[in-house]
Amino acid sequence: MRIIRRRGWEIPDGQATPEHLVLNRRALMAAAGAGAMLSTEAQAQWLFGGSRGGGATDPWARNPADLADLPQAMRNPRYQPGRALSPERDAVTYNNFYEFGSDKGIWNQAIRMPTRPWTIKVEGMVEQPGEFGVDDLIRRFGLEERVYRLRCVEAWSMTVPWTGFQLSKLLDVVRPQGSARFVRFETAQRPDAMVGLRQSWYPWPHVEGCTIEEAANELAFMPVGLFGKPLPPQNGGPFRVVFPWKYGFKSGKSVARIVVTDQRPKSFWETLQGNEYGFWANVNPEVAHPRWSQATERLIGSGERVPTRLFNGYGDFVANLYAGMNLSQRDLWM
Ligand code: MTE
Repeated sequence: MRIIRRRGWEIPDGQATPEHLVLNRRALMAAAGAGAMLSTEAQAQWLFGGSRGGGATDPWARNPADLADLPQAMRNPRYQPGRALSPERDAVTYNNFYEFGSDKGIWNQAIRMPTRPWTIKVEGMVEQPGEFGVDDLIRRFGLEERVYRLRCVEAWSMTVPWTGFQLSKLLDVVRPQGSARFVRFETAQRPDAMVGLRQSWYPWPHVEGCTIEEAANELAFMPVGLFGKPLPPQNGGPFRVVFPWKYGFKSGKSVARIVVTDQRPKSFWETLQGNEYGFWANVNPEVAHPRWSQATERLIGSGERVPTRLFNGYGDFVANLYAGMNLSQRDLWM
């Protein structure tokens, strides 16, 4: 089968085929080749998104059990985005979250997922493993607001105010052992809410990872809020990680488990298609994705196309992390 595909920015969002969806088609063909043939209806459901369950119109709708409000948080002026904020509604209704389905409009399915109670287990090579309630962490660390740019590997981006705490604060509590080298982030699996988990050909749970040094970098952040409100599930509520100098897929959502390890984690996308989505995935406009250019990005909301910057413009904070490595190697940018 030959797949005719146009790049996302050549057609309106509503008609665009997300690049990850193209991957789905390949996976479908692989599954079919392996004899796991799906019915036509199931294929259509898979390729073009599941049923939305209908009805919801408010992307900020909260489950009654969830946190109604976030504690006050001051905006940290150290992180200047140099861009206007993305429209709030676009940021909470245009999402990638495969646990809920493979199209951008999963928000009205995702908002049904209760985000309280919610704990995060931190274990592996640490002196003080533990299981922490999200509200306990909020009380313990306090919150700040940071406006970061998020650059998706699909060449769109958004600029949003996250409320949360620096990931290093959590690492300071659990105290990684000297021989630990990596941190692995696992997204929760909530089959009642996450209908995408039924797509059993994906390597659930969603796993992402980074080095200890990257996790300890001041930019690595754990948001619990967005636009001053509790982080909605479609954006990774009740909490997620963000690494603003890396492509967005490195920022795992709705994290339930963190493992500190000496083994390099193999991430969800790396497992599916390692030649396109690697471990480092640092933003570099000069290293094209195998199937499209990364030179520019489309701002969600306005649709304006702007140049992409090395390390997504965060080189002053993170370039030193890679100083000893050969920066020309393609691996660092995939
Ligand atoms: N985390 C999980 N668990 N599942 C996902 O499908 N998608 C990633 C990332 N984190 C994803 C995920 C991708 S590809 C991007 S671009 C960002 O989340 C999108 O975050 P946003 O929806 O808040 O913009």
